[in-house]
Amino acid sequence: MKLLTTENLTELELLNNALRNEGLKEISKETEINRLGEGAWHHAYLIEKEQLVLRIPKRVAYDKEVVFNRKALTSEYAATKAFYQHANRAKEGVCPKQFKFFVDEKLTYTIESYLGKSIGLQRQTTDLSRRYGKELGAFFLALENLNSPYKGIGHLEIGQTGELKGELDMDLKAFVLEETKEYQEELNKLIDSPYEFDRAKVVKAGESFISRRSINDEKIILTNQDTSPENIIYTKRAAKIIDPYPQLYTGVSIAANYVFNYQALFHLFHNTKRYCKGNYHLYIPQLIASAEGFIEGYTGSSKQKRDALHIEVFLKLVTMAYTHYQLVNEAPLDREQIIRFGTKEQVEGRLRIYLKKLEEYPK
Ligand SMILES: Nc1ncnc2c1ncn2[C@@H]1O[C@H](COP(=O)(O)OP(=O)(O)OP(=O)(O)O)[C@@H](O)[C@H]1O
Ligand SMILES: [Mg+2]
Repeated sequence: MKLLTTENLTELELLNNALRNEGLKEISKETEINRLGEGAWHHAYLIEKEQLVLRIPKRVAYDKEVVFNRKALTSEYAATKAFYQHANRAKEGVCPKQFKFFVDEKLTYTIESYLGKSIGLQRQTTDLSRRYGKELGAFFLALENLNSPYKGIGHLEIGQTGELKGELDMDLKAFVLEETKEYQEELNKLIDSPYEFDRAKVVKAGESFISRRSINDEKIILTNQDTSPENIIYTKRAAKIIDPYPQLYTGVSIAANYVFNYQALFHLFHNTKRYCKGNYHLYIPQLIASAEGFIEGYTGSSKQKRDALHIEVFLKLVTMAYTHYQLVNEAPLDREQIIRFGTKEQVEGRLRIYLKKLEEYPK
């Protein structure tokens, strides 16, 4: 059995248990199962008649047995539900309207509105990618106009009284200052590393950017850190978002995460098991156009926003380069690290590219 359950059941039986639980019509035979796809953690099925998607956690993720964890699954799904509702307030229809979940050792699933089939990156002209990107940028900006419904900062978790909250209980300013200090330390370690690059130039760019980092204009909002192309449903009418990784964070930091990932993460990670299915190295023009469109949509005509975003993207590059540097220097990589980042050789190759990119700043 590839799905997470303590019961000795077939895929069809487990699916039907979920459908019965929801009061939906059961599937009569194996051949009627409509498999939509699988991510790292779930198998997704289309329930055609009701236009719903049923997602069931996998039994094995990143080559490891998944241990059933009620609290973690409940937090994850409650956070997804919260983000979907919040996102639809910022832009109606951008996320599934319906979302329900059920968590038990015997049967765990989520069920949500089906958003249709994505055309993927492969069927996008760069103009279309730019348009989708712009739309998503404008949506991330719209999220900044909504107050956070929850307290705290960071990843959402369930607190003592069952309410969602950010994992950190910290003042925003103190948090950003602390984070800035960490970025500076990471940059210093890269500067002290034995790799060849124009240190003086990078030190100067770092000083200039870090001292101008936006602090006073920011607030904590509810936003989404996982906007990889496989979690965007590109439909004829719009780009829609599924499978979020909700965060309570500053808008600009997560916007920079989008820009950085589309400019310099997905296509450079095509050689990892985690991202190889996307073949992102074949769609570099679309990814770049998507990032450009996003910047347009997110910053509009605001110079302040454009500058703040530019600085945050630089910081994402610093931290990604540093992560790679650490991995190169770590004792043998474990299985999950290899699946996510590739072999040490691949990690070092990417580190060199990131150092070159650092050198290109200021731009
Ligand atoms: N609401 C939906 N509407 C349309 N398609 C969907 C929906 N939910 C899931 N899918 C399809 O099923 C695939 C897998 O679903 P999903 O991304 O939720 O899995 P996952 O394991 O949570 O992913 P990840 O590995 O990114 O965490 C998606 O890439 C998408 O093609
Ligand atoms: Mg996914």
